[in-house]
Amino acid sequence: MCGIVGMLGRREAAPILLDALRRLEYRGYDSAGVATVHDGRIERRRATGKLSALAELLERAPLPGATGIGHTRWATHGAATEANAHPHATERVAVVHNGIIENFRALRARLEAEGRRFESQTDTETIVHLLESALDAGMAPEKAAAHALRQLEGAFALCILFAQDPDLMVAARRGSPLALGHGEGEMFVGSDALALAPLTDRITYLDEGDMAVLRREGAQIFDASGAPVERPMRVVAASSVLAEKGEHKHFMAKEIFEQPTVSAYALGHYLNAERTAVRGEAADIPFDEADRAVLVACGTAHYACHVAKYWFERLARLPVEIDVASEFRYREPPLSRRDVAVFVSQSGETADTLAALRHARPQVRMAAAVVNVPESSIAREADLAMPILAGPEIGVASTKAFTNQLITLAAMAIAAGRRRGALDAEAEARLVGALSELPRLMAEALRRAPEIEAAAARIAQARDVLYLGRGPMYPLALEGALKLKEISYIHAEGYASGELKHGPIALVDPQTPTVVMAPRDALFDKTVSNMQEVMARGGRIVLITDAAGAEAAGEGAERVIRMPDCDPFVAPILYALPAQLLAYHAAALLGKDVDQPRNLAKSVTVE
Ligand code: F6R
Repeated sequence: MCGIVGMLGRREAAPILLDALRRLEYRGYDSAGVATVHDGRIERRRATGKLSALAELLERAPLPGATGIGHTRWATHGAATEANAHPHATERVAVVHNGIIENFRALRARLEAEGRRFESQTDTETIVHLLESALDAGMAPEKAAAHALRQLEGAFALCILFAQDPDLMVAARRGSPLALGHGEGEMFVGSDALALAPLTDRITYLDEGDMAVLRREGAQIFDASGAPVERPMRVVAASSVLAEKGEHKHFMAKEIFEQPTVSAYALGHYLNAERTAVRGEAADIPFDEADRAVLVACGTAHYACHVAKYWFERLARLPVEIDVASEFRYREPPLSRRDVAVFVSQSGETADTLAALRHARPQVRMAAAVVNVPESSIAREADLAMPILAGPEIGVASTKAFTNQLITLAAMAIAAGRRRGALDAEAEARLVGALSELPRLMAEALRRAPEIEAAAARIAQARDVLYLGRGPMYPLALEGALKLKEISYIHAEGYASGELKHGPIALVDPQTPTVVMAPRDALFDKTVSNMQEVMARGGRIVLITDAAGAEAAGEGAERVIRMPDCDPFVAPILYALPAQLLAYHAAALLGKDVDQPRNLAKSVTVE
C-alpha cells in the first residue's frame, strides 16, 4: 500500500523517480508526487489520480536536482487530494511514507501546541514536523531522523530528504518492506526490488527496525537499538524482477496467459523429476505429528486455503480450520503444539496475515508460509517459507498467484497424506501425475478464450451475477465472483450450489446470469439439479464443464464453456482460468481499469 522511491544520483532524479514509480503504481494510485533537493532548496510536484497526471505536471514544470524521493499513494488518512499527497515537506525536510503512524493524533496535538502548522490530514506530516522540531533543537539531520523515528508507533517504511545536505538520505523500515539499491556512485531506495530493476540488480533489504543513512557511495545501516549492522547485498536476477506487458493489453491478461509456464515452475519445485512423488519444503512439514491444520489468509489467497481444506481433509484425513486473517487473531482461537499453521500470501506483506502469523507462531508446532515474494516479511518470519514461484504479479486482481498457491497447497496435502499413512505410494504417484498435467491442460483451457469472451459480453450487461459450485468448486465460485466484482464493479456472489434454495434463489431472474462451475465428477448430478432449479425460474446459465458434462447437461444452458477433461483433483486449479477470463473480458469490454481497479491496492499493508 503506497510505493516509495528515493535516489541519490549523479543525473536528473525526477524522470528516474517517475519511471520507478510506474513500477510501483500497482501498490496504490490515488495520487503521486516527487521532491528533489537543488541549490539547497526542496522543491516538489504532486498530483491527484494516476501517475500520468504527475508525468504531465513534470513535463510542464520540470524539477531539477539529482537527489529526490517519490511516492504513489493509496489513501489511508485523508482523502486523495493534492494537499494530502506525498512528499510532505517544509523548507528543510521532505518525507515519503508507506504504512500507518498509529500515534499520529497525540503527536500532532503536541506539535500543534508547539505552534507548528499542518497543511494536510495525513499521519505522515507528523514526521515532517517531528524532524523540524529536532532540527530546531540543533540536531544534525541523521540524529534528527533517529530522534523522530523513536517517537513513531505503527508499521511503516519511509525515506527522508534534507535541504541542507543533498548528499544525504535517510530510510527506515518498521513493518513495511524497503530495499536499498547500489548503483555506480549512486544509491537508490524502493518499496521493492521491482521498482529499482532497471537501475541496479544489487539490492540490500533492510531488516525490521533498521534505519539506513545513505550517501552516494553507500549506506550505513543501524538496527532497532541504534547499533551499526551489516546487511547482505544480493544480486537479484533482472529477469525475475522486470515486468512488462508484452503483447497483452493488460498485465492481468499477461498473467492469466502465463499460467501454463509458471505452474510448471511450481511443479518443478514441488514434484520429483519422475513425477511420482512430492519433494521440497512441501514434504518437510510434520503433518504426521499434527492433529489439525489451520490455514489463514485474505481475499483470493483465503479462497486458495478454502479449496485446500477439501484436499487436506480428503487426502490426509487431517481436520482443517480456515479463517480470514483479519478475523483470526481477534477471535483468539485456541491453538496448540499439535497444530500446523499455514499462512498464504502472494505479496507476503499483507498486514492482517502477518499479524496472524505473529500471533500463532509461538503457539503452534510449525508456522509455514506460502508466498510469492521470498524476501517478504511473512516469508522471513515463518518457520518455513514455501515459494509459489509465480513471478511478479502486477495486475491488482490475483490470477497466476492463485493457481500457484493451489499447486503448492495441493503438493502439501499429498505430502500430508503420505506422512499420515492416508495415501500409499501408488496413490501419491497418481495425484502427482494429475498435477503434472496442469501446464498442458491450462494451455488448452486458454484456447477457449474466444468462447469465454463471448460469454463475458452477456455477463458485462448484467447488474448482478451468481456463481455456483459444489465441493472444491464452491470456493472457486467465491473466487470467480470476487474476480468479477473487483475489476468490473458488477455485483457478484458465489454460493455452494446446494445452498441456493436456502435464500439466494430469490435473486434469480432472467436478468441475473448464473455461472455454474461443474466438471463431471461425483457431485455433478447434484449440481445439475441446482442448475435446473435456476433455469426453471427463468435464470440464464453459463455452464463451465467438460465434454461429458456438456453432453449430459448442456442443453438449456445459454452458454457452455467446454474445458479439457481432467482428473477431478486438479479441476479447482484448472477451472480458475475460465473464471479469471470471464471477469477479465467483462471488465475489458466495459472499459474498466482492469489492472488498477478503483479503491484497491495490490499489497495491503494496513489492517
Ligand atoms: C483479489 C486479490 C486479493 C488478495 C488479498 C491478499 O484478486 O488479489 O484479495 O488475494 O489482498 O493478498 P496477499 O496474497 O498478497 O496476501
